[in-house]
Amino acid sequence: MNKNILIVPGDGIGQEVTAVGKKVLDRIAEKFGHTFHYDEALIGHVAIEATGSPLPDETLQKMKASDAILFGAVGHPKYDNDPTAKVRPEQGLLKMRKELGLYANLRPIKLFDELLGASSIKPEILRGADILFFRELTGDIYFGEKGRKNDGNTAYDVAEYSRFEVERIARKAFDAARTRRKKLCSVDKANVIETSRLWREVIQKIALEYPDVEVEHQFVDATAMLLIKDPKKFDVVVTANLFGDILTDEASQIAGSMGMLASASIGDGTGVYEPIHGSAHDITGKGVANPLASILSVALLLDISFGLKNEADTVISAVDAVLKAGFRTRDIADASTLSENILGTDAIGQEVLKRI
Ligand code: IPM
Ligand code: MG
Repeated sequence: MNKNILIVPGDGIGQEVTAVGKKVLDRIAEKFGHTFHYDEALIGHVAIEATGSPLPDETLQKMKASDAILFGAVGHPKYDNDPTAKVRPEQGLLKMRKELGLYANLRPIKLFDELLGASSIKPEILRGADILFFRELTGDIYFGEKGRKNDGNTAYDVAEYSRFEVERIARKAFDAARTRRKKLCSVDKANVIETSRLWREVIQKIALEYPDVEVEHQFVDATAMLLIKDPKKFDVVVTANLFGDILTDEASQIAGSMGMLASASIGDGTGVYEPIHGSAHDITGKGVANPLASILSVALLLDISFGLKNEADTVISAVDAVLKAGFRTRDIADASTLSENILGTDAIGQEVLKRI
């Protein structure tokens, strides 16, 4: 197979973990006889510094022309404490999602058995948890009208969903549920919010097309509680952009660390694959970031964008084998981890490469 992959490392540890992800792609190409051509592009803070824009036109063109995108992270602390900044790294990410039509964000929460002890949740509650989130990614309060009135003393953000937007993400989630345990939980706040009432109405209608899938509607506050109380009860979860953002960070603790969670953003065109963690400037440049989420994002890329299931499974098995051998990065180590088994970004990456 001959493919063009765009590497977009972005900011902070995005650079470090994506470099490891790329090595995994190379190793897979070599092992299975594929040819991957790479190009690189800027986004986020590094793009603002270089061009003034968080998503330069050149990056967008390269994105549209590629077969898949391996993405790092965006963000910089300098903007976090400056609410007045007009140009922000995150704008690049949001614009990319909109421009590429990436309306479905898949966030699989899969717990590797070896990491049962790394979570702050009790092992007996966690064991067997396996959740696939479908977070809607191009609508909601993220993209509605926003602004200030009353001389800047009142602010507003409009949340908006069209029937069509809910339908297309719903179908993706129902299709996925069919290939799994046939259980779909739709999360909303239909007791209060109008977009949630439309959401629920659409899910109920689409459910008629999937009589084999058991559907449950749940309020977001209850879901936040149940994810911790009984994560095993969930199979596929579908929800709106903001609820999905919050619930998937929470759910990352089921997998032990944010450093383990990969995601796929898919839709009309090129798919984007990235860790769910951010740029983590507190550990940037120290060589300690966990690259496993980026490596697992590579597995999603191979599977979803290229249909290379066997190659994807090879990557996941290699990660599993590294964990079984006892190797950990700092964020997933626990009291039983031998200190010589706590590895940095590149060293744990090497262990994965060896096992592929
Ligand atoms: C995510 C991130 C982004 C989001 C930020 C960086 C804008 O938290 O991908 O989950 O809120 O979508
Ligand atoms: Mg988030």
